[in-house]
Amino acid sequence: MTRKPVFDTPHKALRLAFGELTTLAGKTDFYNISAVQALQKLMDEIFTLVYSHSHHEDDLSFAELDQRCPNATQHDRDEHQRLHQRLDELSANVHSIVDELRAGQDQHTAGVALYTDLCNLHTEMLIHMMEEERDTQALIWEHLSDEEIADQEARILGSMDPEIMVLWTPYIIGSQPLKHVQEMFKGMMATAPAFVVEGNLKVARNRLSPGEYAQVEAALELSEV
Ligand SMILES: [Fe+2]
Repeated sequence: MTRKPVFDTPHKALRLAFGELTTLAGKTDFYNISAVQALQKLMDEIFTLVYSHSHHEDDLSFAELDQRCPNATQHDRDEHQRLHQRLDELSANVHSIVDELRAGQDQHTAGVALYTDLCNLHTEMLIHMMEEERDTQALIWEHLSDEEIADQEARILGSMDPEIMVLWTPYIIGSQPLKHVQEMFKGMMATAPAFVVEGNLKVARNRLSPGEYAQVEAALELSEV
């Protein structure tokens, strides 16, 4: 029987997010403070997603796996600490570049170094997520039932601040099969206030092609398509 991949939604979203982040970093003109501030904003947002995601793994899903299979997630937890340290360093670097630019200092060399560091971090994040999907997921499937995994997912979603959910949404919509996006909106329409649905539909309009967006509207019976 096919079981649901437990890391599917957040990891696909993070892969899309890091692809967009390193692309933006590669396009950034480090002589232009507004361009660097836009990069800094995207870094702050995407790093917030990484911190939030690894805390959910450590405190909830990994904690419950470790109770049944002691130290099963030690490698992943160590990687979270190491990656968080890198995120903190790169965050400090981009903030320093903005401060130095404001003071009129040339930051081109620091900008090139930041781009290289972000590409390196992107690579490390991909390896980390692949290891969780290859090794840890097998242990989760072995030690937890589908009902227990679904219950964990519900608790993670229930504990998430709306501000964090808003940051995830564009990357989730942009990285899932259209059928899943349609199901997500159907669920949202049944449970969330209208302004939340409308806000997320605006995000979907930005992230999807016109044809894909029309199919989401059709699934929600919002249009004639
Ligand atoms: Fe992780």
